[in-house]
Amino acid sequence: MQRKEWRVFNPNGTKRVIVTKELPGQRWLDALEAADCRVEICSSGAALDVDTIQAAIGTQCDGAIGQLTEPWGEVLFAALRAAGGTAYSNYAVGYNNVDLDAATEYRIPVGNTPGVLTETTAEMAVALTFAAARRVGEAERFLRAGLFDGWLPTLFLGNLLWRGTLGVIGAGRIGSAYARMMIEGHKMNVVYFDLFPADQLEAFADAYSTFLESRGDPPVSCRRADTVEELLEVADCVSVHTVLDDSTHHLINGSRLKLMKENAVLINTSRGPVIDEAALVEHCKAHPEFRAGLDVFEDEPDLSPGLADLENVVIVPHIASATSWTRQGMATLAGSNVAALLSGYPAWNRPDISSFLEGESPKAAPSILNAEEVGIAIFQD
Ligand code: DGY
Repeated sequence: MQRKEWRVFNPNGTKRVIVTKELPGQRWLDALEAADCRVEICSSGAALDVDTIQAAIGTQCDGAIGQLTEPWGEVLFAALRAAGGTAYSNYAVGYNNVDLDAATEYRIPVGNTPGVLTETTAEMAVALTFAAARRVGEAERFLRAGLFDGWLPTLFLGNLLWRGTLGVIGAGRIGSAYARMMIEGHKMNVVYFDLFPADQLEAFADAYSTFLESRGDPPVSCRRADTVEELLEVADCVSVHTVLDDSTHHLINGSRLKLMKENAVLINTSRGPVIDEAALVEHCKAHPEFRAGLDVFEDEPDLSPGLADLENVVIVPHIASATSWTRQGMATLAGSNVAALLSGYPAWNRPDISSFLEGESPKAAPSILNAEEVGIAIFQD
């Protein structure tokens, strides 16, 4: 077990909530204080292990806010329930670290933080796209190493993506926001793969095409691919925005990488294990014109052997949602989830969570993933 420092906020609150990392902003704490919670926050940086979290839950704990770096499964939900707990929120929109079945088995509602990461994460996908296509990391290392002797016609030639074909795997909120940025900003034609049609994204591309044509410019297209393979074969740039589950683990593997264009760009801001990272390292070594931009890794915080040495890969440490607005918004939603559940409020009834971010919040938990399964009522207007 790890030795950790815990900071206590609102010590006289009658409900005990543990929070496994310091979170930004104040609104989340205000929500928990208003719900009469004593909040114990782990102020040490490293990821907590299961034993340490279990010890922190102890014998009396009403609720918890945990991190995507922690395995919230059978052991922790059993411990939380045994301690009288009735509320958990992940400080993330993704919840592949949470065993929802186990939470449901122990009748613990699980919250997450959708709606505040969409544009922020899409922005990072755009940043990585151009950093990879235009070799920004490589060129910066070259410059900082004092190797720049002056402008050259052939120095760091990259790929122009303008009017090219963009492949989007997973056209949910973030994937669609990324696609819209690349359509409007860069006039790319989109091919997406998703279990469901992205009607709003297709309508956006149609409306934008009408605008382009009214100016005498060629339109853009947006169509759903039947298979991942079809998308990989045609795209100049592929960006991955799926959830991580059994069906998407190693979705991009060695044989699918071979289907991609030799000079394609591959971006991942979803979850590392969606790409077989060892296969990606081999592919990038064998195809120096291929480029990747990664925010997430298969075994965070470790990188697969050889990945950090590759000039054709741009890597950042899982920071796609790292803006103050977003991280404070995530804290607000996580705190509001737990505060609302401990106050006996229902689950919010729509995807738009903006009413929780300022002013007086609705008396509801903004996003509960297993509300129906654990019998939490749904907010009625
Ligand atoms: C999430 O919320 O799932 C993100 O990965 C955090 O950046």
